Amino acid sequence: MPDMPELLQRLQSQLESLPDGLQAHIYRVRDVALELAGRHNIDLQRAELGALAHDICRAVPGDDLLRMSSEFGVDVSEVEQDFPLLLHGPVGAELLRREEGLTDHDLYEAVRWHSTAHASLDPLGKLIFLADKLDPQKAAVYSYQAKLRDLALESLDLALLEFLSREMATRIERGETVHPASLEARNSLILKLRG
Ligand SMILES: [Fe+2]
Ligand SMILES: [Fe+2]
Repeated sequence: MPDMPELLQRLQSQLESLPDGLQAHIYRVRDVALELAGRHNIDLQRAELGALAHDICRAVPGDDLLRMSSEFGVDVSEVEQDFPLLLHGPVGAELLRREEGLTDHDLYEAVRWHSTAHASLDPLGKLIFLADKLDPQKAAVYSYQAKLRDLALESLDLALLEFLSREMATRIERGETVHPASLEARNSLILKLRG
């Protein structure tokens, strides 16, 4: 298994080929991820790797994501078939595992589920998911971002639940689909937090 610094180096050279705006987003997410990791006692190096890795396939067109999914054996649900952009996490995780030597299971899962979340996410996965939404440039997309940030500094679970509840409510109100993994993640957080 390549050690972490080697993966970091490989990632950095991959990032250089991404569009400028996407690179800038990734580095802002890295900064948020490091802040959250410090607060929640999560390994800084893994938080950084997860942030740098999460959008490695974000610039890949939908048709290519569908083709790569079938090549990599990534399951494509009805919701993803309709909106292939959702596959950039799962395809990115597979690409990193196959070509860049990503062997850390939790990092793989963090990249894989960063768009929809998943009931099985560990603290690192929750952190990457939230850091992505807390990119300051997304404040216009998520009007409640300041509150989400405060919550995330306090509890990754509470922040993730808040985000999923709000986004799901909005999607339902607009008559849009909800990814089954998001629904399951929300259910499991509610049951866990109810204790
Ligand atoms: Fe993404
Ligand atoms: Fe992102």
